[in-house]
Amino acid sequence: MGRIAYVNGRFVPHAEAFVHIEDRGYQLADAVYEVWALFGGKLADAEGHFARLERSLAELQIDMPMSRAALTTVLREAVRRNRVQEGLVYLQISRGVAPRDHAFPHPPVRPAVVITVSRVDRVATEARAAKGVGVVTTPENRWGRCDIKTVGLLPNALAKQKARVAGAAEAWFVDELGFVTEGASSNAWIVDRDGVLRTRDTNANILRGVTRLSLLDVIRDAGLKVEERPFTPEEALEAKEAFITGAGTIVLPVVSVDGKPVGGGVVGPVASRLRRLYIERAKERAI
Ligand code: PDD
Repeated sequence: MGRIAYVNGRFVPHAEAFVHIEDRGYQLADAVYEVWALFGGKLADAEGHFARLERSLAELQIDMPMSRAALTTVLREAVRRNRVQEGLVYLQISRGVAPRDHAFPHPPVRPAVVITVSRVDRVATEARAAKGVGVVTTPENRWGRCDIKTVGLLPNALAKQKARVAGAAEAWFVDELGFVTEGASSNAWIVDRDGVLRTRDTNANILRGVTRLSLLDVIRDAGLKVEERPFTPEEALEAKEAFITGAGTIVLPVVSVDGKPVGGGVVGPVASRLRRLYIERAKERAI
């Protein structure tokens, strides 16, 4: 018998087990998982894994897709159908399938549930344990490579949801030194008190926005002053204007930060002009 997977309520052959391309786990890493070891076909440390699963889900505000008892039954059935005694059970629960948007789908969608079971060769793993293994060291940089346009966007999705709940369109990340790095899905800019355009330098841990780069050219062509220098949220509040850039937002004026007005709370001339210039140039050069 081949391997059997569980996908959203159905047991299906492993080779035919698919999730939708707009599953938020696939698109945004907006999902959690657990892995249980199987000894003699039984779930090891069941309570600990269930407790962590429930905690992870609660942290992401994803509902348990079914009761713990029902989930236990499904996990056991997956094990039984795969006839595995010694192995691993993998469970993944994503926020569900919805058109791509960083913020949570509203109204919420059903969480997507996937379970797979794999066999472990205990003779081989015992032999390895008897010999011991080597390790290497690596800098602790998890979530520290924002320069890569990876789909590991869970922090961005959570930040965007925070913005949405606050009635805002974007969230600006602030680093440990108090400087804005970038938005959840855009780069951040101000026109400071001296009229100088400012955006964070790309030596920082940010995505090298393509719109940002093109806009720098537009700005230079327009003869405006620009500095790739970080700013704080306080400087943004004192700035003449603020805006964000990205393929999705183009150049989008920002009129408030944390509910406080920027530039008198109205769209300023520089951002509007840059939006127009950017669009003109982009249209000319689009292939
Ligand atoms: N986001 N920073 C982050 C974290 C982004 O996700 C994006 C783009 C940008 C701007 O990059 P660009 O100018 O190359 O689009 C900056 C896209 C639009 C998205 O996730 O939908």
